[in-house]
Amino acid sequence: MSAINIALLGMGTVGTGVVKILANNAHNIEQKVGAPVVIKKILVRNPGKVRNAPTDAKIVTDIDEILNDPDIKIVAEVMGGEMPSKDYMLAALKAGKHVVTANKDVVAKYGRELFEAAEANHTDFLFEASVGGGIPIIRPLKQCLAANQITEIMGIVNGTTNYMLTKMTNEKMDYADVLAEAQAKGYAESDPTADVGGFDAARKIAILASIAFGARITLDDVNVEGITNIAIEDIEYARELGFNIKLLAIAKQDDCGINVRVHPAFLPTSHPLASVNDVFNAIFVKGDAVGETMFYGRGAGELPTASAVTADIIDVARDIRHNVSSRILCTCFDHKHIYPVSK
Ligand code: NDP
Ligand code: HSE
Repeated sequence: MSAINIALLGMGTVGTGVVKILANNAHNIEQKVGAPVVIKKILVRNPGKVRNAPTDAKIVTDIDEILNDPDIKIVAEVMGGEMPSKDYMLAALKAGKHVVTANKDVVAKYGRELFEAAEANHTDFLFEASVGGGIPIIRPLKQCLAANQITEIMGIVNGTTNYMLTKMTNEKMDYADVLAEAQAKGYAESDPTADVGGFDAARKIAILASIAFGARITLDDVNVEGITNIAIEDIEYARELGFNIKLLAIAKQDDCGINVRVHPAFLPTSHPLASVNDVFNAIFVKGDAVGETMFYGRGAGELPTASAVTADIIDVARDIRHNVSSRILCTCFDHKHIYPVSK
């Protein structure tokens, strides 16, 4: 069976993980897809940089080498940032390629435009890794919980800040030192302001709330407070009173509208989220039929995130191989009342 050729946009933390998984699990993946999945080209910024995984793929710096290559059927965007990632993904969809991404910045801001381009061009646009790293959460919300009216989503959705708060709590590590450690481990965004300022979590809860409530929710609709003002003294004070401080992302829908927010919170140490530590994320979803569900796992990092990206690649490759489409469209977001953001 002829190979399904793909391209990666980016070979940093997550892209390297995808290269490793496709190499290490090649046999297993070929069995699942029914054909080998081969990375033909990888777009990077600095072609001379030493990479952390061997690859036979051609390293390129010009996106047109990928867009104009008819053999490339799937493009996995793991570059990050809004631009040029959004333009590249849009161009790939318009060129008839399927796109998968880990990029919550683009999904949260331009998701609708990309879903519409995918629909118009009969291609897939998948983004499982954009929320919760390796935790399955996008598909469960879109598919497995589709029968429910979702009333609430609450969780820890940023690995960097959870890692920082854990180390500040358990080892009394200094804020700047522990942020540097999270960056060195590849958890943080290239500009970590998005992590510590709460904006990364806000984009993620906007994506989850949009899917869960069928509403158009963007970063502008989220009340955001990060952890920049949390000091060791606050954490110690909380501990004395029997609480842990966690950065929570919350989305609730009631009869009057939708409320979406991100902020640090005092959680009793007995609360299940209070013991979610290090880079782990956990997300509660409450539905009228299923009741409460909880999704838990590593929310960032090379292999956990690449696990979700590669799963999307496998899903699309399987559809290509069998000439079917399992697309679950995301274009039906309505305008609903969203509680205003307090300034
Ligand atoms: P990195 O910064 O580690 O890697 C980015 C890669 O993209 C690099 O290989 C870089 O090239 C390449 N790149 C960046 N800009 C351009 C450009 N303009 N043209 C060509 N290549 C470019 O990022 P991550 O792997 O950490 O993150 C990638 C995406 O995944 C982001 O959207 C992030 O939010 C998301 N994500 C990350 C997680 C994590 O744990 N790191 C978890 C979940 C999602 P070069 O190597 O030459 O510099
Ligand atoms: N910077 C993000 C985090 C990466 O720490 O959660 C995963 O989306």
